[in-house]
Amino acid sequence: MLGYNLGEGLWLRLLERHHAEFLFVLTDRNRDHLRPWLPWVDEVRSIADSLNFIEEGLLRFAQGNGYELGIWLEEKLIGVIGVHEINRANSSASIGYWLDVEYQGRGIMTRAVIAVLDDLFFNRKLHRVEIRVAPENHRSRAIPERLGFRMEGILREAERHKDRWVDLVVYAILDREWKACRHP
Ligand SMILES: CC(C)(COP(=O)(O)OP(=O)(O)OC[C@H]1O[C@@H](n2cnc3c(N)ncnc32)[C@H](O)[C@@H]1OP(=O)(O)O)[C@@H](O)C(=O)NCCC(=O)NCCS
Repeated sequence: MLGYNLGEGLWLRLLERHHAEFLFVLTDRNRDHLRPWLPWVDEVRSIADSLNFIEEGLLRFAQGNGYELGIWLEEKLIGVIGVHEINRANSSASIGYWLDVEYQGRGIMTRAVIAVLDDLFFNRKLHRVEIRVAPENHRSRAIPERLGFRMEGILREAERHKDRWVDLVVYAILDREWKACRHP
């Protein structure tokens, strides 16, 4: 999947090396918005750091192990959605995402997650997809809840932030559940 048209000028496109500056500027502008939930934010200090992230995603894509997509409104990068390491033995993967603070509240990320789930279940034939979220991250939790994921439990102190450990709520959806939801 190199590009996915979400309609109304919104696109998902594979992040490529020449997007590094756009990605850095977007990250830099959203530090305060992202910091409570994404532990890597303050490690991104330069365009080179964003480039490293993109290259790691491209390698994952080339190996069939996942990908990082930019969320674009026309030519403007407004967010990122990624598929972390696909576990081939278990046909499973997890999704992560973030959006420019200015574009929250419009359903954009829900639409992006739907497109990625379609890709993972219909094209890549995965069996299970997870989303892991901090318990207090209500905006993010609303996405899997809206899309029919089941809450399976809480991983205690599973994510290290600078000065604290964060619990993660595990949401998951199975292929048959997603297909029933898309084609009832
Ligand atoms: C998590 C995050 C991507 C959620 O963004 P979001 O804009 O709330 O999510 P969506 O794009 O799905 O939009 C949902 C909102 O749009 C509204 N909406 C409008 N049209 C909609 C539609 N067609 N479908 C769904 N929701 C729609 C919903 O009512 C909801 O609004 P509300 O928050 O006022 O109830 C964003 O808050 C973010 O980037 N947070 C920081 C990083 C982060 O936490 N990442 C996740 C780590 S697990």
